[in-house]
Amino acid sequence: MNIRTVTAVSIALIGLAPIAWAGGPDDDELVINGDIEIVTETDAPAHLEELDTIYSGWRFRTDETQALQLDDFDNPGMIFVDQAMDSWGTVEGTEGKSCAACHGDDPAESMTGVRAVYPKWNEDAGEVRTLAMQINDCRQNQMGAEPYGYTSADMTAMEALISVQSRGMPVNVAIDGPAADTWEQGKEMYYTRYGQLELSCANCHEQNYGNYIRADHLSQGQINAFPTYRLKQAKLIQQHNRFQGCIRDTRAETFKPGSPEFVALELYVASRGNGLSVEGPSVRN
Ligand code: HEC
Ligand code: HEC
Repeated sequence: MNIRTVTAVSIALIGLAPIAWAGGPDDDELVINGDIEIVTETDAPAHLEELDTIYSGWRFRTDETQALQLDDFDNPGMIFVDQAMDSWGTVEGTEGKSCAACHGDDPAESMTGVRAVYPKWNEDAGEVRTLAMQINDCRQNQMGAEPYGYTSADMTAMEALISVQSRGMPVNVAIDGPAADTWEQGKEMYYTRYGQLELSCANCHEQNYGNYIRADHLSQGQINAFPTYRLKQAKLIQQHNRFQGCIRDTRAETFKPGSPEFVALELYVASRGNGLSVEGPSVRN
């Protein structure tokens, strides 16, 4: 980081708290259940010229928080995976169907690799879809059921169930072709300064990751590990909840979960993690 950026960002952060210089990510390795190897550090994707190396947020958490992800029995997010497994087999809506009716009793049959490539362009709909949008599309148009609230507990749990099928696989969202415009929009948002504090995502997560802001060890703000169980909130949260919280911290008006703005931002942020492993449901403070 050059000195000018440091100064500008430090001044902007005075309202919040000065940044304390600290040692970056730790050197720990994440292997879940002694079996699933998670890539938490790798070369940045080619489109991301500002960084050489990308890291999962896991590498910035304390040993105590990290430990909760080593074994599924200790991971409080896994309860919601079990709950979603019940929903998977439950018939709902006017068509008398469950997810299992079309996608098979074991979600591994149809959902392995899915989390890794979302958000994804949907040709028929002519739009970039997040996983949540796709789940609701199936509920409404395949099942004749009510959509889940975008960041509801049911939705977030279903995302966790789908995510688990891809744990350890590399994030690989497409940013070219018909998704390119949405990706550009998301990129622009990432570098836009928001709120009274005039801070962009990049000011914190690109220029200051590894440092402390208040008591928080700043990560690169990756979303490979979502949904994530937040100890502070004692619940599983979705990436759009996190975006909202971060924008609110800059004392700005924020966008709504599921809004076109957050869908674009999600595509862009996901692409910054291309090459890291799918890790959700993860545990964070
Ligand atoms: C009546 C059959 C049917 C039911 C019931 C159904 N789906 Fe689907 N689902 C589909 C079809 C067909 C597609 C492919 C749609 C497309 O590509 O536009 C799909 C695609 C998906 C995808 C994207 C897969 C990919 O490779 O991109 C996900 C995720 C998904 N469904 C989840 C669910 C969940 C969760 C439920 C239950 C809440 C559900 N579906 C219920 C038919 C169904
Ligand atoms: C004022 C600094 C600040 C700004 C600006 C900011 N964040 Fe954050 N963000 C944080 C802090 C602090 C955390 C919690 C510690 C961590 O994981 O970095 C966090 C966490 C995150 C996480 C969770 C990462 C994980 O592995 O659990 C994501 C994703 C994220 N931010 C995305 C964003 C996006 C996208 C923007 C821009 C809209 C943004 N943040 C703007 C401070 C900021």
